[in-house]
Amino acid sequence: MKTKINPLACIILAAGKGERMKSATPKVLHQICGRPMLHYVLDVVSSLKPKEMVCVLGHQHEQVAKVLPKTIKAVLQRKQLGTADAVKSGLSGLKSFKGTVLVLCADTPLLKKETLGKLIKYHTENACAATILTVLLVKPAGYGRILRDRYNSIFGIIEEKDADDFQKEIKEINTGIICFDKDKLIKALTKVRPNNRKKEYYLTDVISILSSQEERIEGVCIEDVDETMGINSRVELAKANSVMQRRINEKLMREGVSIVDPATAFINYGTKIGPDSVIYPFTVIDNDVIIAKRCFVGPFAHLREGARLEDEVILGNFTEIARSKIGSRTIAKHFCYVGDSRVGRQANIGAGVVTANFDGTSKHSTLIKDNAFIGSDTILVAPVVIGKYAKTGAGSVVTSRQNVKDGQVVVGIPARPLVNKNQPKTTPALRRGLR
Ligand code: UD1
Ligand code: MG
Repeated sequence: MKTKINPLACIILAAGKGERMKSATPKVLHQICGRPMLHYVLDVVSSLKPKEMVCVLGHQHEQVAKVLPKTIKAVLQRKQLGTADAVKSGLSGLKSFKGTVLVLCADTPLLKKETLGKLIKYHTENACAATILTVLLVKPAGYGRILRDRYNSIFGIIEEKDADDFQKEIKEINTGIICFDKDKLIKALTKVRPNNRKKEYYLTDVISILSSQEERIEGVCIEDVDETMGINSRVELAKANSVMQRRINEKLMREGVSIVDPATAFINYGTKIGPDSVIYPFTVIDNDVIIAKRCFVGPFAHLREGARLEDEVILGNFTEIARSKIGSRTIAKHFCYVGDSRVGRQANIGAGVVTANFDGTSKHSTLIKDNAFIGSDTILVAPVVIGKYAKTGAGSVVTSRQNVKDGQVVVGIPARPLVNKNQPKTTPALRRGLR
């Protein structure tokens, strides 16, 4: 029999103070692999294609609103009186909606679509008043515990702060992700009182209220303990970051990228890397980086925003690339900084090369053309252009706007053309691997 799928609305709670983060930044904007944790939750919610999506904002709402996509309705919870009050605010944005309401906390960024799908399916098939996503934790401290009677039926949730020693032993926890029948939720919310240690209106109290009305409450217990991790502190933030990093790295490896030591490859969400590229240990890749095929990066490389590597680029240890495009087969094997630059194909960036792109007020760009050879320890003071097959001597300083012509060889400080009759007009093309 095909189950009738009820219309779905999602309420994402993001109004809380996030006190345990001890931060001036709103909790849900703290980053995980280069992205605010809220965005992961919004992605997974959007993938369910709900009829309505409402995000409840409160504490520092102006800042959070800035990163909220237009497809998501924002409602304001004026005072942070607790999760039940936040859901009430959320419902004010769903006046004409009828059906299932899925409540999620914006501080659970590791959730997967399949899990939510399973929860909603179970809720609908069993026509429950509430269905709670739960998980068994060896160390459940900090979470609300699921209370079950001797028939194994759920009759409540008790928060850690209000739990007695016996209840604290319960390993099954509330992930904060709960499906509700909208009408039953609204009625139960009117009965919630702040009778607890924190003097807050707890959404979790809705469960005991519905239970006392003999309504059907179920739990869907999942196995993956990482997925529902709630981020309340910096320690949990770091844990979530490493789980997400593992997911990102494993996806890249499945797509054909070699990551020598996934535990020390810090690659931000959304990085594109072509097949047969190799990422060596202790490499940091920030947002908005694209690496093409068969590149070698690291160890100890830092690719910052706007780095673009074409095919077969080699970047060795202690190389930093920012807002720069590096042409195919160009090599920079040892410590260097390339910023705001465009580097052609098959160029050689020697050890210790620096593009001095900042004059204290503004940033300037450097253009290094195909097959140029930038000698060790060269400083290129931007804006400057280095011609095709041009060569700079070791330790030279090419000053700004003193462009080096195609095939020209410059040396010294400030760099000037080398006067040497024996010097060939053009340097031979530097082939890959030749040093
Ligand atoms: C909550 C649950 C707990 C569960 C845990 C899972 C309650 C009372 N407790 O606890 O049972 O085990 O999540 O991670 O629901 N928020 C608002 N407005 C408020 C208060 C909170 O929008 O007035 C938002 C927060 O921004 C956050 C979410 O609600 O996204 C949960 O709040 P948080 O303070 O993190 O609750 P926990 O103590 O983690
Ligand atoms: Mg929380």
